[in-house]
Amino acid sequence: MSAEDKNIAALVAAARGALAHAHAPYSRFAVGAAVRLTDGSIVTGSNFENASYGLSLCAETVALATVNAQGRLRDVTEIAVVGGGMAADGSVGGEAIVSPCGRCRQVINEAEQMAGRTLAIYCVAPEGDGLVEHRVVDLLPHAFGPADLGITPAQKN
Ligand code: THU
Repeated sequence: MSAEDKNIAALVAAARGALAHAHAPYSRFAVGAAVRLTDGSIVTGSNFENASYGLSLCAETVALATVNAQGRLRDVTEIAVVGGGMAADGSVGGEAIVSPCGRCRQVINEAEQMAGRTLAIYCVAPEGDGLVEHRVVDLLPHAFGPADLGITPAQKN
């Protein structure tokens, strides 16, 4: 296993770990996300539903908002995402791979633009070795972003 493989494995493990913290009693679909920063640290997020259904927050958005709250939005390098249906005991299994929803793609694009680097997005399953690697430009082609509003990372503050 290469150093890079080990790094990805750690990020994937963190995303899978975040599945346990999903608050998803309505959909019973847990999602975990893990974001790696330039210093190697990892920030996780879990989906956070509420009784209004439509105001629920996705795991990727929670993770990136947490990164932002730490003042680290420019330091994002990679994101891992995992999701699956919850069994009666809350466990999540299976080898189905999910990819970020439309709103999360917009949020991930914001992180990419502010970071000024191409992010790697690893979509994995709760179990197994399957991994699909994406780029924002492929997930959200022709994205509307900060540049359309005349904003560059340097102007953020
Ligand atoms: N969900 C995420 O957390 N991320 C996505 O990219 C797709 C969907 C959550 C939202 C909701 O809590 C559950 O998965 C079912 O849609």
